[in-house]
Amino acid sequence: MHHPISPAILYWGTPVVLISTLNPDGTPNIAPMSSAWWLGHRCMIGLAGSSQTTQNLLRTKTCVLNLPTEDMTTAVNALALTTGASPVPEWKHGVGYIHVKDKFARSGLTPQASEVVPPPRIKECPVQMEAELVEAHDMMKDMEELKRAPFALELKILRIHVEDQLRLEGFENRVDAGKLRPLFMAFQEFFGMRRGKVDESRLAGIEEENYRGITGTVASDWKTNEKQ
Ligand SMILES: Cc1cc2nc3c(=O)[nH]c(=O)nc-3n(C[C@H](O)[C@H](O)[C@H](O)COP(=O)(O)O)c2cc1C
Repeated sequence: MHHPISPAILYWGTPVVLISTLNPDGTPNIAPMSSAWWLGHRCMIGLAGSSQTTQNLLRTKTCVLNLPTEDMTTAVNALALTTGASPVPEWKHGVGYIHVKDKFARSGLTPQASEVVPPPRIKECPVQMEAELVEAHDMMKDMEELKRAPFALELKILRIHVEDQLRLEGFENRVDAGKLRPLFMAFQEFFGMRRGKVDESRLAGIEEENYRGITGTVASDWKTNEKQ
């Protein structure tokens, strides 16, 4: 049986991303977020307009998308309820957010120089994607009170770094999906995927390289993916 309900937020479960950007004074900021999805070599993220990260992205057009593992909840929790924005936006102040200038110090995470964008990567994250802003979509502008409140931001992935242990053996450009341990958030709770692979995927019958021409791949320095 089903019943209609109205949760205050629709938070069905998405991966946690730690976004690093640069503040106006050149210092780095980190924001944990999870309204993110991927299509080809693009990522769409949903961010509050009042977040320092949104302001940094609209201004500098660059960021790094760092994917934490399910073991990194201590660092993510240290970043939760903090903002690089000062003063703290009214709604955030009301629910207990504080201003934190140095999010790397706060979280114990380590900055690592990026290769093609100015904001640093986060060393502890096994996946780091350097990216640039392509387009900002003002969401919910049909509702007067929410104009410029949330933004949907389209990011072009420029360079992808993965820890060697995540690479599929024998291939130049592939990830071993069974080794990924992403952290998910659903309805503000953390989830992992420790059960691993649960069934064979029919879609996986398609050779991965077949996608390359249709995904908007930017990097020009990839080698062809012949099995070694
Ligand atoms: C795990 C996690 C997921 C979050 N997901 C989002 C999100 O998808 N979009 C968003 O606007 N804020 C999200 N937040 C809240 C932001 O972290 C918060 O707005 C923060 O103040 C942003 O930092 P900044 O102002 O320094 O950019 C999330 C927080 C946590 C801890």
